[in-house]
Amino acid sequence: MVNLVLLGAPGAGKGTQAMKISQLYNIPHISTGDILRDNIERGTQLGLEAKKFMDRGELVPDSVLIGIIEDRLSEPDTDKGFLLDGYPRTIPQAQALGDIIDHIGKELDAVIDIEVPDEVLVKRLAGRRMCRCGASYHVIFNPPEVDGKCDHCGGELYQRDDDAENAVKTRLVSYYGLTYPLIDYYREKGLLKSMNGTGSVDDIFKEINSVIELIL
Ligand code: AP5
Ligand code: MG
Ligand code: ZN
Repeated sequence: MVNLVLLGAPGAGKGTQAMKISQLYNIPHISTGDILRDNIERGTQLGLEAKKFMDRGELVPDSVLIGIIEDRLSEPDTDKGFLLDGYPRTIPQAQALGDIIDHIGKELDAVIDIEVPDEVLVKRLAGRRMCRCGASYHVIFNPPEVDGKCDHCGGELYQRDDDAENAVKTRLVSYYGLTYPLIDYYREKGLLKSMNGTGSVDDIFKEINSVIELIL
């Protein structure tokens, strides 16, 4: 069993790696971005509220996210481990996560921080194509086998509204202002595993695997 957090700026490759990790180790991939986008798609109250923030590239308020994670981590499939992608994003979210997992008698095993310079992030987000199943592609760096279609489920690929240039700028500002401090927070707890995220998808996956193998 392994309980992991994936940390990294927008476009660092969290979703890409999370999908592979969750398949290999058979643990649920919990992406707060995917949960929020699913709520937007279904037109829920939560989705309506979150959309305003997300389209601008701003973080959705902590209270909303903490509620989502509390509910999700209480589901039984997390008993075999979990992989958080995109949560926590702020110090209060990290503190709440600590309380939630304490309460359910679990522990975090590692926080994997994928580091990628801004100019690479911007190129990755500009060419990204997403599938509703959570798979993420890039028109140049990571194209699907059939143009516009998902390799995993055959779904139609789309561009995320918040991959527009202005929203990307705001997302990077939010990341450096609110999320970056989590690197020190988890380093002090002895949980941080930082890695260079500019290599190929497979190279980064190998490095993540070597971290996980030491935990198992
Ligand atoms: P979220 O969906 O989490 O977005 P994000 O953090 O901005 O991260 P991304 O999903 O954009 O990037 P990624 O690291 O997953 O990269 P990917 O693998 O796709 O959040 C969206 C919004 O929801 C937030 O802005 C906020 O409003 C809200 N939200 C979510 N969680 C929240 C929270 N906890 N608190 C508050 N608000 C929250 O890869 C990117 C591209 O690069 C793809 O095209 C991919 O094919 C390509 N790529 C990946 N790896 C490589 C590689 N090694 N080489 C070349 N290309 C690569
Ligand atoms: Mg993602
Ligand atoms: Zn798909």
